[in-house]
Amino acid sequence: MKILFYAAKVYDKKSFDPALERFPGITIDYIDHELEPMTAALADGYDAICAFVSADVGAKTLEILKEKGVKTVLMRCAGYNNVDVEKAKELGICVKIVPGYSPEAVAELAMGLALAVNRRLYKAYNKVRENDYSLRGLRGVNFYEKTAGIVGTGKIGAAMARICRGFGMKVIGYDMYENPALKDFVEYVSLDELFARSDLISLHCPLLDSTYHMINIENIKKMKDGVILVNTSRGALVDTDELIEGIRLNKFLGVGLDVYEEETGNVYEDRSDEIMMHSVTARLLSFPNVMITSHQGFYTLEALNAIAETTLQNMMDADKGERTKNDVA
Ligand code: NAI
Repeated sequence: MKILFYAAKVYDKKSFDPALERFPGITIDYIDHELEPMTAALADGYDAICAFVSADVGAKTLEILKEKGVKTVLMRCAGYNNVDVEKAKELGICVKIVPGYSPEAVAELAMGLALAVNRRLYKAYNKVRENDYSLRGLRGVNFYEKTAGIVGTGKIGAAMARICRGFGMKVIGYDMYENPALKDFVEYVSLDELFARSDLISLHCPLLDSTYHMINIENIKKMKDGVILVNTSRGALVDTDELIEGIRLNKFLGVGLDVYEEETGNVYEDRSDEIMMHSVTARLLSFPNVMITSHQGFYTLEALNAIAETTLQNMMDADKGERTKNDVA
C-alpha cells in the first residue's frame, strides 16, 4: 500500500516513521507540496493520499485523484470541512479522518489562550524582557466562580468543560445533542442564553453551513461586556470583520484564536519576510487584547502519535474495504 503524504513537515515524519514499523505493508512518500488541483496529479500510482487541514480537497482535486487511480483520502485531522464529501462519494473515493485523537490537546490550548488574553501574558512576557516591571495593561479577572459557555460539547468541548470546572467555573453548554458524560456539571441552555450569560465563550462545534459565521455582530451584541472569546475550532465560525467591529465596541476583555478565516496559506509557513497585502488578520493583531496562534491545538506529542497510528490503521481498513466510524465518505 503506497501513500503520498502531502505538505509533510519534519514533525510528521517523526511521528509517522516509527508508527510505520507496526504497519509493514505500508510505504509513505513525503512531499512538501500542499494538495490542490495543481499537485493532485503527483499521486499517480498511489493507493492513497494523506492530507491536512489546509489542503484543497474539493471537486477538481478529487476528480484528478480519481483519474490517477487513488482510492483513499486519509485526512490526518478531525475536521474535514475542506473535503467535498459528496463529490468523493460520487467518485467512489473513500475518505477517512482521525476523530478525537487527543481532545485534551486542543482543550488545553483553548484554556491557555483564555488565560493568556485574560492576564495579557504575551504583553507581560515582553515587558519583563524589556526591563519594564510595571503592571499597566495587565489587569485581568478571576475565572473562579465565573461562567464558561461551551459551544459544541463533543470530545474537545467536553474536555474544555472539565478544565473549566477545575477552575471553579460554572459551566453552561450549547449543542443539539446533550453529552451524557457532562450531565453532572454542565447546564444546557439555548445559544442566545449562552451568549448572554458567559464570561468565557469557547467554540468547539464543527464548521457547517449552519455554524458558518455564528459569531457575528448580532450575536456579539448579545454577549456580556468584558467577555472572553476563544476559537480553537475553525476560523469561519467567526465573521472576522464583525469580530473587529465588536472589539471596537469594547465588548471583549480578550479574544484568543488558534484558527481564523485567513489562515489558509499561512498555516505552518514562515512568511515573516513578506508584506501582508490585504490582511484583516493584521488588523486583528493590532489590538492589545487579541492573541492568535497558528492552528497548533493538535500539536502535542501524544496527539501526533495518535494521529499517525490512526491514519495508518485507516489505511489498513481501507485496503480491506472495511467501513469504520472514521469514514466520512
Ligand atoms: P466532536 O464531533 O466530538 O464534537 C463536535 C460537537 O459539536 C458535537 O457534539 C456536535 O453535536 C456539536 N455541534 C454540531 N453542530 C453544532 C451547532 N450548530 N451548534 C453547537 N454544537 C454543534 O468533534 P471534536 O473532536 O470535539 O472537534 C470539534 C472541532 O474542533 C472539529 O470540528 C475541528 O474543526 C476542531 N479541531 C481543531 C483543532 C486544532 O488544532 N485547533 C484540532 C482538532 C479539531
